[in-house]
Amino acid sequence: YGEFNHKIDYVFKVVLIGDSAVGKSQLLARFARNEFSLDSKATIGVEFQTRTLVIDHKVVKAQIWDTAGQERYRAVTSAYYRGAVGAMLVYDMTKRQSFDHIVRWLEELRGHADKNIVIMLVGNKADLGTLRAVPAEDAKEFAEREGLFFMETSALDATNVEPAFLSVLTEIY
Ligand code: GTP
Ligand code: MG
Repeated sequence: YGEFNHKIDYVFKVVLIGDSAVGKSQLLARFARNEFSLDSKATIGVEFQTRTLVIDHKVVKAQIWDTAGQERYRAVTSAYYRGAVGAMLVYDMTKRQSFDHIVRWLEELRGHADKNIVIMLVGNKADLGTLRAVPAEDAKEFAEREGLFFMETSALDATNVEPAFLSVLTEIY
């Protein structure tokens, strides 16, 4: 992507949030590098990766931020959300609790982020469909009520990862 460096039209900051172990870091690894690891370690502090892509003939640099779901490893909240124009609110579709906690993550997000931020609710681990604990209908209903986009993804087999990030980036643009 080096050749794009002198002509980036937009830099969009997108934040990943949600409980520990829902797959935030692996969604990022899949989107940024097309990689996946089953023995992913819990994130400590903040990490980010970028991917440059062309949307509507414009060169967009997506800067995706990833932090720890675990409270004790989390970074300074206000700094994490500062300047974010998109957010992926992630739960694990096989863990009901991670979906029940989404209301809290959304509250924190709305308390710190710009009011025009584009938010995608993401039900990850769709490859484990037989262990599903969150009906798609529940998530869809919640998303509609709260004005969020919604998709089910799998970082493992790559299902919907690209569409989820691209929908957010396109909506920002
Ligand atoms: P914290 O950094 O602690 O907040 O967790 P996280 O949300 O970043 O979770 P992470 O990406 O580290 O993934 C946690 C575990 O779930 C790892 O063992 C991953 O390999 C696994 N995992 C992530 N995405 C998927 C997926 O789509 N399917 C399956 N089957 N496993 C996944
Ligand atoms: Mg992580």
